[in-house]
Amino acid sequence: MIDIHSHILPALDDGAQDWGDALALARAAVAEGIETIIATPHHANGEYHNDARTISHAVQAMNERLAAEGIALTVQAGQEIRVHDDLLDAWARGDLLTLAGSRHILIELPTSRIPRGVLELLHELKLMNLSPIIAHPERNAEIVSHPERMAELVAAGAYGQVTTHSLLGAFGKRIEQASWKLCRSGLIHLVSSDAHHVSKRGFLLQESYRQVNRLLGDNFELFFRKNAEAILYNRDIVSHPPIAQNETIWVKLAKILRKS
Ligand SMILES: [Fe+2]
Repeated sequence: MIDIHSHILPALDDGAQDWGDALALARAAVAEGIETIIATPHHANGEYHNDARTISHAVQAMNERLAAEGIALTVQAGQEIRVHDDLLDAWARGDLLTLAGSRHILIELPTSRIPRGVLELLHELKLMNLSPIIAHPERNAEIVSHPERMAELVAAGAYGQVTTHSLLGAFGKRIEQASWKLCRSGLIHLVSSDAHHVSKRGFLLQESYRQVNRLLGDNFELFFRKNAEAILYNRDIVSHPPIAQNETIWVKLAKILRKS
């Protein structure tokens, strides 16, 4: 399995605090069947900066340590980039990283709202041939109350990544329900752990795929797995999930907006 969003690198953000934490996460990942993890330390979220150079060095050190410890896991570089006014300048300065060197880039919204100017930002990123993925939209209060806002972001060319813990109820019933609703509405394209700590916030990727299979079917599980692979190999993300039989209003809206 491939996990595209994690905080496994030691001492860079609120994820792994030291090598002990990082290696415990790595061992847990392997035990679940994860072979490749994209490390996505926070950038510009008000607390952490983590520019591209810092992350690339940390990834190299992590892979060396994994090899020395005999842990069969590969870590790729990425970044969880908070939407902020300086984002495009930060890109121009070379401070930002895409996911595993692909054209896909992980963007984080604040938890309470969708900032003004996000649609314009998505447009700019698309013009730069970047493919923006919104990290855990199910944890954004405005999207939970108004899923049509996520449809607007998807129509503008963004993709959605739901977090395993949200799907499995660890963030409460409301976020759990919002997660499955967004999946069923075709507004989620990827499942990922956003792992921070081996026991407090681990992976649960295998369990989440099992639950996706149970509740949404084989095709949905395959759709999510293939899209994680697409990121690693820099292919296009499949934008429409296998829900043609039961297409919801939000997918229709996203398609209409995408055409206009
Ligand atoms: Fe994260």
